[in-house]
Amino acid sequence: MRQKIIAGNWKMNLDLDQGKELLIKIIDADVNTNCVSIIAPPYIHLNSFKTLLSHTNIALAAQNCHQQDSGAYTGEISVEMLKSVGVDYVILGHSERREYFHEDSISISFKVKNVITHGLRPIYCCGETLAERQDGEHFITIEAQIKQGLFHLNEMELLNCVVAYEPVWAIGTGETASPEQAQEMHNFIRKTIAQEYGEIVADNISILYGGSVKPANAKELFTCPDIDGGLIGGAALDAESFKALTDSF
Ligand code: PGA
Repeated sequence: MRQKIIAGNWKMNLDLDQGKELLIKIIDADVNTNCVSIIAPPYIHLNSFKTLLSHTNIALAAQNCHQQDSGAYTGEISVEMLKSVGVDYVILGHSERREYFHEDSISISFKVKNVITHGLRPIYCCGETLAERQDGEHFITIEAQIKQGLFHLNEMELLNCVVAYEPVWAIGTGETASPEQAQEMHNFIRKTIAQEYGEIVADNISILYGGSVKPANAKELFTCPDIDGGLIGGAALDAESFKALTDSF
């Protein structure tokens, strides 16, 4: 059965002391356990966060990884390294990585495979730009991102993936896709997966919405039948609002 998930993507925010302070507030806020809560802080926080989270139900995610296990890749972090500090999930293909670091769905597909091979779970992001939506190309864009990024996996591997639909025009802009727009795309993603892997597999994959989700709009989005939760940036940097998001199902 697919899971309800609230994942907080902290991006490049908060130094270690500030990060620990927020994490402790989130732990003390007693997040709702009806959904899976995930925190994705910067790499340097992961090790100490795992210890702080050890007696909680909150899972830990990295925001990226390298596709090789080790070697001469200055500045990179491998999945084995993430695994060694107890990371559970890895966000891959976020639009900021695609835009600023020139990642594309094919290169991300290698990371997806490596994450799964090591027993961690990818949160695979897809999303169209404003120009693509205005030109009516949003379905083509998302279909290509889903197929290129995920369709090299077998059924069991795919079932370990979480998908996040994040329209680029809604990220950090305060502009949210309407529940109708989001549901329409989530349903399209599920159908695209069903065509290749069958309905049972598609029905069992959590598809999160991301893009200016906050407690005020979360309920409306999360009641849509194909929206299984959120990947949240700004609103996840506040303990009360993170807790409220977990209460939004
Ligand atoms: P936002 O970011 O909630 O601040 O729009 C979402 C994301 O980038 O994952």
